[in-house]
Amino acid sequence: MSNGSSFFALVKSTRYFVKIPAVQALLIQFISFFFVFTLLAGIGLLFEMHNSVILVSLLQGAVAMLLSYRRQMAPWWWLMQFIFPCALVLTLALKIPPVFFLSAFIFLLGFFWTTFRTQVPFYPSSVKVWESIEKLLPHGKQIRMIDIGSGLGGVILHLAVRHPESTFIGIELAPLPWLLSALRAAFGKSSARFIRGNYIHRSLTNYDVVFAYLSPVAMSALWQKAVHEMKPGALLLSYEFLIPEAHPSITISSKSGGPNLYGWHL
Ligand SMILES: C[S@@+](CC[C@H](N)C(=O)[O-])C[C@H]1O[C@@H](n2cnc3c(N)ncnc32)[C@H](O)[C@@H]1O
Repeated sequence: MSNGSSFFALVKSTRYFVKIPAVQALLIQFISFFFVFTLLAGIGLLFEMHNSVILVSLLQGAVAMLLSYRRQMAPWWWLMQFIFPCALVLTLALKIPPVFFLSAFIFLLGFFWTTFRTQVPFYPSSVKVWESIEKLLPHGKQIRMIDIGSGLGGVILHLAVRHPESTFIGIELAPLPWLLSALRAAFGKSSARFIRGNYIHRSLTNYDVVFAYLSPVAMSALWQKAVHEMKPGALLLSYEFLIPEAHPSITISSKSGGPNLYGWHL
């Protein structure tokens, strides 16, 4: 690769990185800190005013909230941006041993991994959803099904017991949920298989059923992938989230008022 093209690749990946909401939020906090610090330092010099740490963090939070609003970040970020500096100051005041933060960080990293980039957090679906999926599977026929983003493996383990003739696979990006699902399969002597990886890099061609419980952000890209890779007649299922480009051919409403399960025949 020439120097020119590697420079453009670097600019492109930096732009992509900076567009990630969590990265934007962090940059906004830095900008707010320097803005408030400069402002209060100036006022402090002029009027010999002393600022308390909590006042600085409240001001920083307010500026960060305003900037997040101006950047048209999702509304839940506004509140988080306001609370963050104060929460940081108060937590530091508790003088909790640093090893606690390190342990919590390692645990959360293992569980959520690159959620800040994918914007698809871990959140398990319920047994009711698994039962609804089961009713949609063809009976007496061998099928291959994959759960893309399989979390703790609940869906796949549930179906593998009830359809021993079929193949059930889960793919999960985050190491800790993947490890737990693989252990559950091994100790439960399940035929289900769990792969650690990104479903984006796995072809969906050989599956009769693809199940996804992701997030609204992921649905358009998933639809493009499904249209290109899934075979005619295969079934794409999504719990809770619709695909903006395609009307579902199946909608199963939850009796308890929870989210729907949607299906699309390719
Ligand atoms: C809402 S949870 C659903 C878990 C599981 N399917 C269930 O129904 O209980 C979404 C999961 O997808 C995983 N995930 C997000 N993006 C992914 C990707 N690109 N490839 C594989 N897994 C992904 C997350 O780590 C998370 O565990």
